[in-house]
Amino acid sequence: MGIFGVIGHPISHSMSPIMHNCEFKQLGFPHHYTAFDVHPNDLKKAIDGMRALHILGLNVTIPHKVAVMEWLDEIDEEARLIGAVNTIKNENGRLIGSNTDGEGYLRSLQKLIDHPFHDKNVLIIGAGGASRAIVTALARYGISRIDIANRTLQKAEQLAMHARQFVKSNAIPLQEAEEKLSTYGIIVNTTSVGMSPNLSDMPINIHHLKKGTIVSDLIYNPLSTMFLKKAKEKGAITANGIGMFVHQGALSFEKWLGVAPNIERMTETVLKKLG
Ligand code: ATR
Repeated sequence: MGIFGVIGHPISHSMSPIMHNCEFKQLGFPHHYTAFDVHPNDLKKAIDGMRALHILGLNVTIPHKVAVMEWLDEIDEEARLIGAVNTIKNENGRLIGSNTDGEGYLRSLQKLIDHPFHDKNVLIIGAGGASRAIVTALARYGISRIDIANRTLQKAEQLAMHARQFVKSNAIPLQEAEEKLSTYGIIVNTTSVGMSPNLSDMPINIHHLKKGTIVSDLIYNPLSTMFLKKAKEKGAITANGIGMFVHQGALSFEKWLGVAPNIERMTETVLKKLG
C-alpha cells in the first residue's frame, strides 16, 4: 500500500482525500490518501517526514505552495514559471515538485468550449497565487491578450510583467475592467470575493457584460457565486471552480500513478460531498 496526502493549514475541509480515495478504490489501487494539517513552522519537518515515511505523493495547498519549493530536490518547468508547487512526487527518495493548477484550469475551460480559444481576450480578476497559475497557463497556451485587474494594482502589474514573457498583457484598475467588460471573451474571478459568509459580494460590476462571454469563478463553495448567477442572467456561459479542482487533482493522480482517473466520477464524488 502507498500513502498519499495533502499538506495545508487549515486543511480539515479539504475534499481531496475523498476524491482520491474513491478513485484508488475504483481503479484497484491499494493506496490511501489523507489530509495532514502542517503548521508553517513545521513545513521542513513534514517534508523530511515524507522522505522518512516513504510517502509516495503529496498535494500542497495554502499556505505552503511557495515555501515548500526550498525543500524539494527538483522543480519542473511549469512550477518554476508559476513560482509555486501543488504536487510532489517521491521518485525513489527524490522529491519532484510540479504544479497542476494552471493546466487543470485550462482543461476545465476546454470542456466548456468546443473550439480552440486562442483568439479570445481574457480578463483575470485578482493577482494572488491562483491567478498566477492560471495566467501562466493561459499565456503559454497562446491566448491573444490577458488583462489583469486587481484591488492592489501593483500586484497586477507584477503579474502582467511575468505574463508579457509569453503574451500581450496589461494591469488595469478594477473600474477600467468594468468599463471595457464587453471586449473580453473570457473573464475569470480568482479572488475570494463571493465566498461565504459574504455571498452577495461581487468582484466587479458586470453591467457591460456581453451575451455569450465565458465567465468562470474559481470558487466552488458556494457552487454558484452571485458573480456567476448575475453573469448567467445576462446570457454568459458560466463555470464554477469544481472543474479546476477536479482536473488539478486528476493531473496529480496521473503524475503519481501513470494512470488517468475518471473525471466524471471524481466530479460526482466532490459534488456529493459538497451536498
Ligand atoms: P490565492 O492564492 O487563493 O489566489 P491570495 O494570494 O491571497 O489567494 O490572493 C487573493 C486575491 O484576491 C488577491 O488578488 C486579492 O487582492 P489584493 O491583491 O488587493 O489583496 C483579492 N482579494 C481578496 N479579498 C478581496 C476583496 N475583498 N476585494 C477585492 N479583492 C480581494
